[in-house]
Parts: sequence; C-alpha cells; structure tokens
Amino acid sequence: MAILNIRTVGDPVLRTKAKEVQEITDKTRELLDNMAETMYAAPGVGLAAPQVGILQRIAVIDVEDEHGLIELINPVITEYSQEKNIVEEGCLSIPGKSAKVIRPARVTVKALNREGKEFELKAEGYLARAIQHELDHLDGILFTDKALAEE
Ligand code: NI
Repeated sequence: MAILNIRTVGDPVLRTKAKEVQEITDKTRELLDNMAETMYAAPGVGLAAPQVGILQRIAVIDVEDEHGLIELINPVITEYSQEKNIVEEGCLSIPGKSAKVIRPARVTVKALNREGKEFELKAEGYLARAIQHELDHLDGILFTDKALAEE
C-alpha cells in the first residue's frame, strides 16, 4: 500500500467532474486500499479520488461508527431527508479551514463495492454528512461553496 499525495485547493483536479468507473479491476482495488491508507494517515474521515488526482467516481469513508470503512464506487444518492441540519465541516484538501454547512440530515446511497456488487446504505448523523461531502468532490464541489456566511 502507499500513501498518496492529497491535492489542495487551487488544484484544478478538485474542480473537475469525475468519471464513472467502467470496470472494477485489481487496479481499482489497489486504489481503494491506498485511498484508505491515505485517509487514515492524514488523518481524516473521508477521501474522494479527485483529492488524490484521480478523476474516478470513488470515495472511502470511515467516521468511526459501526460501519467501519465504507468503500463507494459510482455512488449515487437516491434519497434525501426533508430534515436538514447544520454541521461544521472541514476537508483534507482545504487545510486549516472549517465552516458550517447545511445539508439533509439523512441520505440513502447506492454504490458498487470492490467486487462490483451493488449495495444500498441508509445513513444518518455524521455518516450522512460525510457521504454528501465526499460525493460533492466527485462533481468538483467543495464544502466552501456551500458554507453559510459567518455571523
Ligand atoms: Ni473534502
């Protein structure tokens, strides 16, 4: 495994829409392993492939809850709760910065696992937050785009 270089704000790769993974190969699985290792070393609770310069729709998340490490390939949010909440977010690509962001409190996400099998996950709390933050990265969106104005 290897620790990858995390791209930071100003790098155009963070603003580019990532492409769907067409075929899950050993290379994809190696990327997932390296992304997890990079996330844990940072340390962080989520990492999307564009953050390591790879424009594929892949993310890893571990918010230290009962789910443990979650690997998402071609993830899509299929349901958002009406209820929203405001939580302070940070990002490994924007070191030293945090801001409050309003997002739906719960989401359902569909994705492929490392074997190419589709799964569905209903998430709430910090996990729902992390999923939305990481999926935004796949579309070139950063949390600062959505940050509420400071009072
Ligand atoms: Ni981020």
